Amino acid sequence: MAIRIYSVIGARPQFVKAAVVSRALARHTNVVERLVHTGQHYDPIMSDIFFTELGLPAPHVNLGIGSGPHGAQTGRMLEALESLFIAEKPDRVLIYGDTNSTLAAALTAAKLGIPVDHIEAGLRSFNRAMPEEINRVVADALSDMLFAPTDTAVGHLRHEGIPDSRIHRVGDVMYDATQLFGSRADAAAVTRLGLTPKTYVLATIHRAENTDDPDRLRTLFNALQRVAAELPVILPLHPRTRQRASTLGLLDRLPDGFKLTEPVGYFDMLALERDARVIATDSGGVQKEAFFHHVPCVTLRTETEWVELVDSGWNRLAPPDNAADVATAILAAASLNLAALAHPDSYGDGHAAEHIASRLASLAS
Ligand code: UD1
Ligand code: UDP
Repeated sequence: MAIRIYSVIGARPQFVKAAVVSRALARHTNVVERLVHTGQHYDPIMSDIFFTELGLPAPHVNLGIGSGPHGAQTGRMLEALESLFIAEKPDRVLIYGDTNSTLAAALTAAKLGIPVDHIEAGLRSFNRAMPEEINRVVADALSDMLFAPTDTAVGHLRHEGIPDSRIHRVGDVMYDATQLFGSRADAAAVTRLGLTPKTYVLATIHRAENTDDPDRLRTLFNALQRVAAELPVILPLHPRTRQRASTLGLLDRLPDGFKLTEPVGYFDMLALERDARVIATDSGGVQKEAFFHHVPCVTLRTETEWVELVDSGWNRLAPPDNAADVATAILAAASLNLAALAHPDSYGDGHAAEHIASRLASLAS
């Protein structure tokens, strides 16, 4: 009998990850996958565009939860997911990454006795001030199969006492996505913004620890303005960052070399990343994509879960404490000798999604 798997997604990076996994699952005739969109992200440029570009099937259901404080948002998800799972009785629930949608799906499934499997398991920042760290720890503790992207992630799970039988080192589905969709990167996105390949810095900022701390956000904007005096900077603004920066007056009077845009679609983002001289970001996904495109990266945080990137020299941490130091780190990355850097294959063979799908399909009776 076919196994019925409900994949719960809701935020931008989860659409990218699910795109490759859904494709791989669709090749197994003994698997029926249904996508459940929590509605955590809902602006067309944060959600619909990924379904269209990446050929994701329309969600079986969109719970329309929207934004809110953590408790309210997660609580509304729990209630809606519980009703859905009770009514439709999925065989398994598949979760991705570390958002509130991940946490809600893990808790709901576990309480109903439905096995839950976690893609991107074992990531740790060891910083419990991050909402994502809490979500990951809970999701991993409740999951049956833990699909780990890296050896480091496997090590963390073992250290937490999770038995090897539940840990599957499959590689990183975001690497698969970059491989699969890389040729769709639309170079016009770069020229449309008046940028010249390999002469600009691509920046993204959206972590709560950066956007919700006015000093840190000011420091980051100040740092990017300093960089813009030397190299053009393009910053596609996450809606959270736009709101906070606008309240602080940071979007007024930016220098000529510092361009803001709305968030961009995935194909435009791949092109902006590929053609950047340096990427400066607090995003988990974008740090890795920089590496996949052989572009040096500066992580605008005090720590990263993706430690292999720092170890290999492609990434360096620049804590947003001092604007001059952050700007110096970004400009230093722009003059790195990339030919001298090894490019280890820490993120798998580009077929993580197929490995996950085969493992899930093997559970069908
Ligand atoms: C969430 C995840 C984060 C992930 C990020 C990916 C949690 C706790 N955080 O952060 O781990 O890295 O997604 O982008 O789950 N908003 C809009 N339109 C939208 C979505 C959000 O305007 O379509 C605004 C709302 O004002 C909202 C704010 O952005 O309050 C934050 O959205 P939310 O989904 O709560 O968290 P993210 O910062 O997006
Ligand atoms: N992304 C995008 N457009 C943007 C910013 C990001 O398509 O304007 C993509 C990016 O290429 C990556 C994913 O969104 O695949 C990362 O999502 P985000 O940075 O929001 O979340 P994180 O990875 O930090 O959880």
